[in-house]
Amino acid sequence: MEYPKRLIEVDLPIKKISEATRQEKNIRHGHISALHIWWARRPLAACRAVICASLWPDPADQNCSDSFRQTATMLLSELRDKRGGKPIKPDNVLELRNALLNFIVEFSNWDNAATSDYIDTCRAITKAANNIFEESSEINPLIVDPFAGGGAIPFEALRIGTDVFASDLNPIAVLLNKIILEYLPVHGTVLAKEVREWGTWVYAKSKEELSSLYPKHNDDSIPLAYIWARTIISEAPDKDKIPIEVPLIKSMWLAQKGKNSVGMKWKRNHNGKIETEIVNVKYANGKQIKVRRPLLEIVNFAKKSDLDEGTVKRGSVTCPVSGYTTPVTSVREQLKKRNGGSFDARLCVVVLSHPRNGKKFYQIPSQIDINAMEKASKLYSQMMLKDNRCFPDEQMPASASGYCAPPTYGAKSFSDLFNKRQLIFARWLIDSFDRWSEERNLSKKIRDAVQASIALVINRLIDSNSSQCWWVTIHGETVMRTFGRQAYPIIWDFSEINPLADSSRGIEESTDIIAKTLEYNAYLQPTSVATTLQAPAQKIPLPHDACSALITDPPYYNAIPYSDLADFYYVWLSRYFKSNNNWFHKLFSETLSPKNEEIVEMSSWDSQRYSHKTNKWYENEMSKALEQGRLIVKPHGIMVLVFAHKKTSAWEALISAVISAGWIITASWPIDTENARRLRAQRSATLESSIHLVCRPRENHDGTLITNYVGDWRDVLSELPKRIHEWMPRLSAEGVVGADAIFACLGPGLEIFSRYSSVEKASGEEVTLKEYLEQVWAVVAKEALNMIFEGADTSGFEEDARLTAMWLWTLSTGTTNGDEAPSDDEEDEDDEEKSPKAKLSGYELEYDAARKIAQGLGANLEHLQNLVEVKGDKARLLPVSERTKALFGKEEAESPSANRKKKSPQLELGFMEEVVKLEQEGSWGQKNVPHLGNTRLDRLHQSMILFAASRGEALKRFLVEEGVGRDQKFWKLAQALSALYPSISDEKRWVDGVLARKKGLGF
Ligand SMILES: C[S@@+](CC[C@H](N)C(=O)[O-])C[C@H]1O[C@@H](n2cnc3c(N)ncnc32)[C@H](O)[C@@H]1O
Repeated sequence: MEYPKRLIEVDLPIKKISEATRQEKNIRHGHISALHIWWARRPLAACRAVICASLWPDPADQNCSDSFRQTATMLLSELRDKRGGKPIKPDNVLELRNALLNFIVEFSNWDNAATSDYIDTCRAITKAANNIFEESSEINPLIVDPFAGGGAIPFEALRIGTDVFASDLNPIAVLLNKIILEYLPVHGTVLAKEVREWGTWVYAKSKEELSSLYPKHNDDSIPLAYIWARTIISEAPDKDKIPIEVPLIKSMWLAQKGKNSVGMKWKRNHNGKIETEIVNVKYANGKQIKVRRPLLEIVNFAKKSDLDEGTVKRGSVTCPVSGYTTPVTSVREQLKKRNGGSFDARLCVVVLSHPRNGKKFYQIPSQIDINAMEKASKLYSQMMLKDNRCFPDEQMPASASGYCAPPTYGAKSFSDLFNKRQLIFARWLIDSFDRWSEERNLSKKIRDAVQASIALVINRLIDSNSSQCWWVTIHGETVMRTFGRQAYPIIWDFSEINPLADSSRGIEESTDIIAKTLEYNAYLQPTSVATTLQAPAQKIPLPHDACSALITDPPYYNAIPYSDLADFYYVWLSRYFKSNNNWFHKLFSETLSPKNEEIVEMSSWDSQRYSHKTNKWYENEMSKALEQGRLIVKPHGIMVLVFAHKKTSAWEALISAVISAGWIITASWPIDTENARRLRAQRSATLESSIHLVCRPRENHDGTLITNYVGDWRDVLSELPKRIHEWMPRLSAEGVVGADAIFACLGPGLEIFSRYSSVEKASGEEVTLKEYLEQVWAVVAKEALNMIFEGADTSGFEEDARLTAMWLWTLSTGTTNGDEAPSDDEEDEDDEEKSPKAKLSGYELEYDAARKIAQGLGANLEHLQNLVEVKGDKARLLPVSERTKALFGKEEAESPSANRKKKSPQLELGFMEEVVKLEQEGSWGQKNVPHLGNTRLDRLHQSMILFAASRGEALKRFLVEEGVGRDQKFWKLAQALSALYPSISDEKRWVDGVLARKKGLGF
């Protein structure tokens, strides 16, 4: 029997779905992501739309049943009657297709998705659709997600009315799925109630048992948070004096809020000398020494000039007293001996809540605060004596400095990511469940579900209270949680919460957020069932032909080291679930979360532990997983695979896996998931979209793999440009441009290639995927260039102009300006592993992408060294200002590539000084006209530099007397580049300045 195409194979309103997806990012209340962090969560709106469009047939397809058409028309008409909208004409299949797509758009909206009108309609359409494919109308379609993560896809599948099988390798992900898919639908409101009960109990008990660790100040003000700094001993060579202990402070700001800003400075005596106090400090390495501590004071209503500089810059530490800078290697050596310095950090500031008005204020710690820490220290020792494994002694990865910096500074176990009081609080929480559940006498039926839900609150609290957290001074003065970034950076000055205080991230707030999210989502009332399991995707425990669709979001190559990050929680939960012999106890019974089968390219992250997890390994394991997937999908079933990466090698590995696993790509859709378009998106390629690859099993009717369908290379090559030519304008109309559009073209390109079991040249030689992808890049580059120059004959532009235009287009993001500033909440801790945060100059692409683009345009990067600089795996299109000497300097003009190896004098002199120097050398000047550049792009850049240097007369002569402006293609190029340079760039201003002279000069 022939089956109809699914809607997703025919059309998808990606622009509108993308809008809903972006809006969802602003939802604060009720979103399941509030339950727990999981990295690379899919937006629910996109999942909803994609699942519906994958399950529903195209009504205009001749194989679609009349009964589906009639039912769908009736259901949509009923919805229209209730909610308004255009009536649907019966028997008009194209109109019905549009109505279904419109429904999908409406349903992707957050509010609509929570209303029973939409949910019921959606479920009924899904059922009608399934009747086409299944013999019994009683069967629900089954959706499988073997990389379920935070559970977005299966959660939406339940809303849509399908049965669900969700698995993941990582126990934290499995816990999340178990809660949202199995517990929440059945016990939602009860769970929320129990979480609140526990919260109230824990809050009261914590006040009784832990208050003395977080004491009030004498004026009754309550600490909300504590700001700590790791310390080193200054290595200034002054042996006679008592050594100075320097706190590692990145910035002296505490609150940046205009006139009411607060910061710190060093306390000085009347001679202006920094005051110090002598203290006896016992360091974590057991050494007890006398040190001098420079004293700090708080500055209220602070201006920048009132504050001192921080002490750490890129890992080296400057002593405020002597001015001596201890180099980064010594800083590291010192911290290494003290397990990273969380245990013996210096408490610098206490954030307090005013006893009368509750407003936040900052104080230097009092003796009360110091005593509390001493108390915590004693308690810690007692607890360790009782049970030396009560805190997480599991080892941290030692060799993964790229994303896990603390071990480089001596952190050995996960306990080293906390100070002692934080450890005590976390352990106290872990033990609280058994104590409470005994008192509460929980029924066996819901005990596991309640315990799992409470784990969410506990993780939230631990997450907010480690030495990986920092104080956010800009928005709201609050604590940034552990995984503000998808890594473990080294945080020099970290913050600790008072969990007992009525403040953000405390017990009360954390309990409330989890309970509210559970309550909110209890409305879903699925009509289908979900199963959650821990399993590697390479071995999905399901029979063949079990499911209707595999919809999944596998790891994006090397983007996130999931299990290494998740271990932060795992080490606590393995203790939490230890006392009950239940499902979770087994799930958390290993030392750390499983790593061996995790399909992430990790060798580039950590070449010691993961040397085997190479590009090839990723491809092979992904291929095994996708082959498993194909076997469990019914012959008429479908797969949607979501992927995003800006590295061409990542794409090649994934696509190779898809094809070798026996899938045909039948469509692909980019969905834009990014909220803010960042400044950096203009300077280096970042992706706004994830690509949804729609695939079908390449199988015979009996389910065996087709292995003998050989394609002819010539046919493939002749079809490719046509397909890309149709597809690019559609993408552009939907606002998908640049790198997003390039990757979004891989899908249609592969539709042609992947339908064959192999493609052969006339010689019989098999075409490799790599070879084909080079062709796809070339065709895409040519097509994009035609779009950029709007139909002009692009062969009239030299290779440098073609490459520049395409390069800038690749970096473009579809908005006309990239003025949006990078977000502040992503505070960048400056550990010395990272390159300086200097402003990126020029326009950067991955070298391989640049090479492919160049090749596609018939340009050769080797010949364009005065335009493109290649370093390692990066290629940089030079900013125009950096080309000054090459364009105007005598010797450089004769030999553009000469002196490339020397440091550009521009970097030393600055652009304007360079212009003046060249002018004085007599190369060109106010009266003289510079010699003409060799290519049109050179001449345009020369004009831009003349404009920028305010050499109006020279520019006029250049354009008029030298005849540069009589070349229409010169202006065409200027216009094209004006549209492509980021609006905040110098180049944009300069090229527009040149264009503004066009009319006045009579061109
Ligand atoms: C991109 S995430 C999925 C995110 C998810 N769609 C969401 O919205 O939260 C990829 C997931 O694959 C999981 N994973 C990695 N290797 C795996 C394997 N071999 N088997 C099963 N899951 C694996 C990771 O733990 C991670 O949760």
